[in-house]
Formats: sequence, C-alpha cells, structure tokens
Amino acid sequence: MNILVAGGAGFIGSHLCDALLKKGNKVIVADKLIMGKQNIEHLMNNPNFKFYEMELANQSNVDKILGENEIDAVYHMAANSDIQKGGKEPSIDFNDTLLTTRAILEGMRKHNVKNMFFASTSAVYGEMLDVKLTETTGGIKPVSYYGGAKLASEALISSYVSMCDMSVVIFRFPNVIGPRLTHGAVFDFIRKLRKNPHSLEILGNGTQCKPYIYVLDLVDAIVKLTEDFKPGEDVYNISVESEGTTVTHIAEIVVDVLGLSDVKFEYTGGDRGWKGDVPRFSYDISKVLATGWKPKHTSDEAVRQTVKDAVEAGM
Ligand SMILES: NC(=O)c1ccc[n+]([C@@H]2O[C@H](COP(=O)([O-])OP(=O)(O)OC[C@H]3O[C@@H](n4cnc5c(N)ncnc54)[C@H](O)[C@@H]3O)[C@@H](O)[C@H]2O)c1
Repeated sequence: MNILVAGGAGFIGSHLCDALLKKGNKVIVADKLIMGKQNIEHLMNNPNFKFYEMELANQSNVDKILGENEIDAVYHMAANSDIQKGGKEPSIDFNDTLLTTRAILEGMRKHNVKNMFFASTSAVYGEMLDVKLTETTGGIKPVSYYGGAKLASEALISSYVSMCDMSVVIFRFPNVIGPRLTHGAVFDFIRKLRKNPHSLEILGNGTQCKPYIYVLDLVDAIVKLTEDFKPGEDVYNISVESEGTTVTHIAEIVVDVLGLSDVKFEYTGGDRGWKGDVPRFSYDISKVLATGWKPKHTSDEAVRQTVKDAVEAGM
C-alpha cells in the first residue's frame, strides 16, 4: 500500500512509519517538524520512504501531496502534543489539531482517497472520573482545547465517512511513552533530576493516576487493526490491561532506575497538574482485546522501560 503518515516525524508517527515500512508498504511522511527531524533521519535513504516538510493545515499543501502520490490510506497523527502550551494559546490546538484534520479530509474528498486512521485521545471524554469509559460512552465533554479539537475532528471525520463513503478507524490513545519521547511526566522528571538529583518538583498532589502504554504496544495495535479494518467507521479505546500509574509512582520509578536515593518530592499541590488536565480516568478496553491484540507491558512496566530507554539514549 501507499500510505501517507501525517505527522510521521513525531514520537508515535515515526514508530508507526518503521512498522509500516517493515510490513512492505511505501510510506510518505508530511510534517512541519515541530519536534525536529531526528526521528525519521534513519529513513531518509530508504527507497520506500518519502518526506515532505509542510504545514498540514494549509489546504494547497495537502492537495499537492495527494495529487502527486497515489495514496491508499492516510494515518493522521499530526496534532499539537504540548497540551499545556495549547492551554495558554488555543490557536495552537485549533490549527495543528483541528485544521489539519479539515485539510486532510478535504484533500481526501477531492482526490478520492477513502481510508483514514486517526489518532484520537482519552482527552475527548473530559472529566468522567468514576465512569468506566467505553467507546459508546455518551455525554462526553472535553475539558481542554486539545480534547475539544480532537472531539471536533472526530465529528468532522464522521460526517466525511457518511458523505464521501470513507472508511475510518479512530484510536483513542491514553498516555503514550517509550523511545523518542519528548514530553510528559516521565520525560520531565528525568530532565529535572538530571539538573538536580536531590529534589523533584511534582505538579499536583501526586495522586493523579493514568494508564501509560508503551509506544511499540500501541503501534502493534494500530497496525493490526488497520490491516483488517471494516468499511465505515470504527472507534477503539486503546490502553493497558492494568490500572494506571500515579504521578508519585512514576517519580519513584524514575528515581529507582536513575539509581538515586534521598530525593525530596516537592508537590505543587491540587488534584491536577494544570488546568485542562484530567486527574484520572479508567478505560474499558474489551473491544480491542476481543480482536486478539494484547499489550506486552503493564502501565508500571511501560514507565520503567521508558526510563531505561531514555537512559540508554543518553538522556
Ligand atoms: N503522546 C501521547 O501520549 C498521545 C496520547 C493521545 C493521543 N496522541 C495523539 O497521537 C498523535 C501523535 O502524538 P505524538 O505524541 O507522536 O506527538 P508529536 O508532537 O511527537 O508528533 C506530532 C507530529 O505532528 C506534526 N505536526 C503537528 N501539527 C502539524 C501541522 N500543522 N502541520 C504539519 N505537521 C504538524 C509535528 O511536527 C510532529 O512531528 C497526535 O495526534 C496526538 O494528539 C498522543
């Protein structure tokens, strides 16, 4: 297949490119390189790989790429991934998360591309603390601009599925971690402890608890579910089987793997890290487990492995 990975130079997108190339696909990445080019540098000489540096919210850019290449499927991974930054400046989520979706869907309509796989998020559910979230949970209200832009993207996608007979799989990821990570609590803690190994500032009261999935487990799920997808629209919650990991426990794992001791944890207080953060959520993943996919790591194991990966990468 000829596959366009929008946002393929990012953390998850670049791992997805590796997996899709390994399966024998031709992969085209379009990305404006917010995170730099390092994640795809190793692919640049691969004859089955092509790269376009471009702004994907711009319709003529998307039209150009879809006009120049016979694309069978689009994996849309492009979005703002710095939720706190987007919280201070909503236009970032509007442009990078929602307008990229609009431009890609419009490009697909014009160029008759029928298949899309979309990276959505647990943030679409908002704050439903005591609900086991299934793909059909209703009344969902995002509490961040990011979650709002993703839910709006999902709604637009549904309309294109219906109006243009597209086939789409929407994946609602939890927190994703692993090699090439550039943001989030694990990354932050390692960076802070490298600067000061005696004390660690932790946002909130440390009891925030979320599931963390190892990026290679997630990519496994995406590849499996997009290899034999059905026509129409399907939505999957993707996560680990274990309960989540608290922020304090992430700090403990990081301290342990870095071989530190006597680190003083300094909490900023409150039940969440920042406005728009959801302190905890619980996913029902029976739908994805019924496909035969199973994550290899629990949430705690994913955190520990990610810290080891970061140390190995010289962080
Ligand atoms: N990392 C997570 O924990 C997580 C959780 C849930 C959902 N997701 C979703 O998964 C996808 C990938 O996330 P990630 O962590 O790899 O993020 P990332 O920031 O590492 O990658 C996103 C890529 O998209 C590109 N991009 C963003 N806006 C663009 C634009 N307007 N034009 C062109 N390129 C643009 C960036 O340059 C970057 O390379 C995103 O859609 C994200 O919302 C991630």
